Amino acid sequence: MKPTIAHLGIAVTDLDAALAFYTNVLGVACRGPEYVDGARIVHLDFGESEVELLEPATSDSPIGRFLAKRGPGLHHVCYRVPDLDAALAACRELGYTLIDDAPRAGASGCRIAFLHPKSTHGTLIELTE
Ligand code: CO
Repeated sequence: MKPTIAHLGIAVTDLDAALAFYTNVLGVACRGPEYVDGARIVHLDFGESEVELLEPATSDSPIGRFLAKRGPGLHHVCYRVPDLDAALAACRELGYTLIDDAPRAGASGCRIAFLHPKSTHGTLIELTE
């Protein structure tokens, strides 16, 4: 299996207002919201990939802190890999900084782990399988 783009995570201050473009212009189906890592998340269906709109539930959540520092916009890219444990082992061996040392439950109950953007040329990368 080739790696694929599982989803793009977009940080927004007003989820309902942001969602209007996707439903009224693009007409894509949405699922949610669900609450994970202090964020209200809506999933938008783009076939094998999704867009996740992430609105902070609290200002001290990761998304809340991101919005305060960087403003709304692209927050992370999530790649689906065939074997998450093997991918994390490769990251460790090659010196990438892991935010999550071991896979944990993310949105939709998927096993996920984040890599620190300082070691990935500025992009917050999430891996899932
Ligand atoms: Co994500």
